[in-house]
Amino acid sequence: MKILLLGAKGQLGIQFQKEFINRRIDYLAHDVDSLDICSKSELKNVVAVYSPDLVINCAAYNNVDVAESNNYIAEAVNYTAVADLTEICNDLNIRLVHFSSDYVFDGEKNSALYVETDNVNPINYYGRTKLLGEQAALSVPSNLVFRLSWVYGDGTQNFVYKFLSWTKQNQVIRVSCDEFSVPTHCSLIVDLVFRALQNDLSGLYHLCPDGYCSRLEWAKEVLRHKSLSNIVIPTYRAEFDLPAKRPFFSAMDNNKLCRDLNIEIPEWRFFLKEI
Ligand SMILES: NC(=O)c1ccc[n+]([C@@H]2O[C@H](COP(=O)([O-])OP(=O)(O)OC[C@H]3O[C@@H](n4cnc5c(N)ncnc54)[C@H](OP(=O)(O)O)[C@@H]3O)[C@@H](O)[C@H]2O)c1
Repeated sequence: MKILLLGAKGQLGIQFQKEFINRRIDYLAHDVDSLDICSKSELKNVVAVYSPDLVINCAAYNNVDVAESNNYIAEAVNYTAVADLTEICNDLNIRLVHFSSDYVFDGEKNSALYVETDNVNPINYYGRTKLLGEQAALSVPSNLVFRLSWVYGDGTQNFVYKFLSWTKQNQVIRVSCDEFSVPTHCSLIVDLVFRALQNDLSGLYHLCPDGYCSRLEWAKEVLRHKSLSNIVIPTYRAEFDLPAKRPFFSAMDNNKLCRDLNIEIPEWRFFLKEI
């Protein structure tokens, strides 16, 4: 099996590369410095020349706040490039694995977990582009799309890394108590993507651990896990005055994936051992 990995230097891309090496999988990895997925001709050329069995697209524009003012880049990476990639892969009969986001939801479900068939209604520009991207990828029935939330792993662009760096500078840290989702470690994502491929799944899945939490609870668990004495105090997200609106409650239900793989996924706290 030959795999082409895009967005290879991001946190999820790094985790996939570790697993490819463990499993001795033949793969080719690119990030924006060697292959900008917004260049359809380059993308087509790389896919055609390498001729993989599978393309895993971890590339994305994830700056939710900047996306509000820089619509073009978010749409180009999260939607147009994904539509191009879908077409290129489909023409060559190559399967595509792609990742979407809990931000396709508006967060108004009143504390019930979101299932795959729930209505989508993104409330920020990033969410709109991720929705268009997942719809493009899902236009080919054999493709696999996983919606993810609060991803963390190796790298600096995640809440755990940022929070731990704040603990070095401040004894008291304010964290929002009115924002809920499911922290999801990259190791779980990679494990379940491989299982889904082995079980020949296709279509749309919510991929996350069991349970959910507020950002405040997440921060407290990180402190407990690292035996740190910092104090977190609750605040409301509105106090941060961020450019992009975010859903207050976007936790997803993983039952469809558990049922189709015949597995149980531990609660989100279990995966803090990875940090
Ligand atoms: N992070 C989260 O909390 C979260 C939540 C829900 C869903 N997701 C989704 O999960 C997937 C993996 O996310 P992640 O956290 O691993 O993201 P990440 O760490 O930001 O990695 C994305 C990678 O894509 C690269 N990239 C950006 N534009 C590109 C382009 N035009 N061509 C090629 N590569 C490009 C980025 O490079 P630069 O860093 O140089 O821009 C980065 O290396 C994405 O689809 C993301 O939308 C993430």
